[in-house]
Amino acid sequence: MRIILLTLCVWLCQASTEELKNCQRPSLHNGFLVPRQDAYNHGTKVSYGCNSGLKPVVETWWGELLCGNGEWSHTPHCVSMSDCIAPVVPHATPKPSQVSYPVNSTVTFVCDKGYEFEKKELRQVVCENGEWGPLPTCNRNKNACDAPSHVPNALITQPYRDTFEEGETIEYRCKEGYKFEGKGTSTCEKSKWDHTPKCVESDVPSGPGPSHALCGDYPTIEHGDVTEDRDRRVLKVQCAALYKLEGPKEVRCVNRKWSDLPVCKAPCRLDQSKFQYRQREYMQHGEQDWFFCLSSPSYVQVKCDNGRALYRGCGDRDW
Ligand SMILES: *[C@@H]1O[C@H](CO)[C@@H](O)[C@H](O)[C@H]1NC(C)=O
Repeated sequence: MRIILLTLCVWLCQASTEELKNCQRPSLHNGFLVPRQDAYNHGTKVSYGCNSGLKPVVETWWGELLCGNGEWSHTPHCVSMSDCIAPVVPHATPKPSQVSYPVNSTVTFVCDKGYEFEKKELRQVVCENGEWGPLPTCNRNKNACDAPSHVPNALITQPYRDTFEEGETIEYRCKEGYKFEGKGTSTCEKSKWDHTPKCVESDVPSGPGPSHALCGDYPTIEHGDVTEDRDRRVLKVQCAALYKLEGPKEVRCVNRKWSDLPVCKAPCRLDQSKFQYRQREYMQHGEQDWFFCLSSPSYVQVKCDNGRALYRGCGDRDW
């Protein structure tokens, strides 16, 4: 019995610590909400319809909203029947970017960096009587590069991306006390990075050697860097970008042995095709979040377990 209560508490207590917020009634012109209330609880679904001659900015003739932690799954709008709703093309952005577009308006697509149009002539599409003309496709360029691999004691001075276009140059920076041996940039050429920079210690150590001579070589940690803090006689461990350190941050030499080593746990890449909106691409190990599902107004919980994204909701039940 105690175990059951404990389990129940772990479950309920966890749920309550999430502190999920209610949603305020969304404003809607030329339409109506069912049920109509001032506020809605987290997880509540609300339908909305539009006055005659108008349609909601979703694929169906009535819209459904879901309240998720103080936010609605989308902002309800009623627009003219001949208007178009925002077109969705993977790996591309429509310009201008709007919720809806009046009849006869044109959008121009721009493929993400490293992607190109399958047929260039489709980059512009026109809204004709509530429907878009044929939409373009953006394919990954065969000369695009993956994210550059991790360079010890260095980082890259721009946000993480998993695709770079041919000809793009990235700049590295060495961490304090290190300098480049050779050049500090790399350029994407025919799907390969042309150079892997190397950061070496800029001041050659003098005086007594490392305090850890008794323990031998520094331990290696996959996806992590080991550096020595000479003053404090410890090794410091830092994980590669987005990797999560689990275990002690510092390692010491005790009785001719290195103390317990930490591990760097892998981030998870999120499957965008499950979500209603484009979300961040990566989640760190141990993180948990939830997102609106692609079609039904319902949500999926996602947690990251050492490189493996686990989904619960939108038809998945990974845990
Ligand atoms: C849209 O274009 C069509 C065909 O060119 C034209 O007949 C119609 O009047 C236009 N509609 C508006 C609202 O401009």
